Amino acid sequence: MSVGADVVEGMRDYYARRAAYYERVYHKPERQPDLRAIEAWLPGVFAGRRVLEVACGTGWWTPHGARDATAWLATDLSPETLAVAQTKVLPSCVRFATVDAYALDLPLDAPPFDAAFAGCWWSHVPLPCLTAWLEVLHGRLAPGARIVFLDNSFVQASSTPISRRDAAGNTYQRRTLDDGSEHEVLKNFPSRDEALAQLGPRARQPQWIDHRHYWVLSYELA
Ligand SMILES: C[S@@+](CC[C@H](N)C(=O)[O-])C[C@H]1O[C@@H](n2cnc3c(N)ncnc32)[C@H](O)[C@@H]1O
Repeated sequence: MSVGADVVEGMRDYYARRAAYYERVYHKPERQPDLRAIEAWLPGVFAGRRVLEVACGTGWWTPHGARDATAWLATDLSPETLAVAQTKVLPSCVRFATVDAYALDLPLDAPPFDAAFAGCWWSHVPLPCLTAWLEVLHGRLAPGARIVFLDNSFVQASSTPISRRDAAGNTYQRRTLDDGSEHEVLKNFPSRDEALAQLGPRARQPQWIDHRHYWVLSYELA
């Protein structure tokens, strides 16, 4: 898998600058019913599991997913977003580490993981890299692991408009931060069938849940 250093650095920089107010996106009134439903669903999925969270950001989902988990390693590439996450009241099983999601070089003392979670990360992985990235993730997990991805659905009037599509099919948004800086952010909105097609042969019993503003994909690893 070759993700350009410029792509990795651009995404890290964008979210580092946005970290202090990233969670405004979770205050959008129209998204509240979906958020409450997903937050209520997550703890049961990971109860008793040792979970690797990829690109945890400011940790919006971490307290919910980790509530009944046995161990939870929340990882992100940005020290700025991790710093916000670490200010939260979290279950005692939660640890943090600075980890590049593409390499997934985990701390030596990390537990063997039997689950993984990534919120709003899939949409940022360039399409030509997705299958290879999933293989890297699967390689860090035990057989039988439970995997959950959740991400944004595109909803007119709530989502930032798509500004262009590249030759590989990736879509992009132009976003302006509070400091006035402008960023072109790769953000894909897969359909159910497109997402399932990426999962590869180790994905068992995939389930796709369509909320209004979010989709959730969960499956078990062979
Ligand atoms: C859309 S945010 C998602 C945050 C959180 N999971 C959520 O759902 O609210 C994307 C996150 O990916 C992180 N990120 C960007 N590039 C990364 C990389 N190469 N490895 C790990 N995390 C990365 C950013 O710092 C940011 O926190």
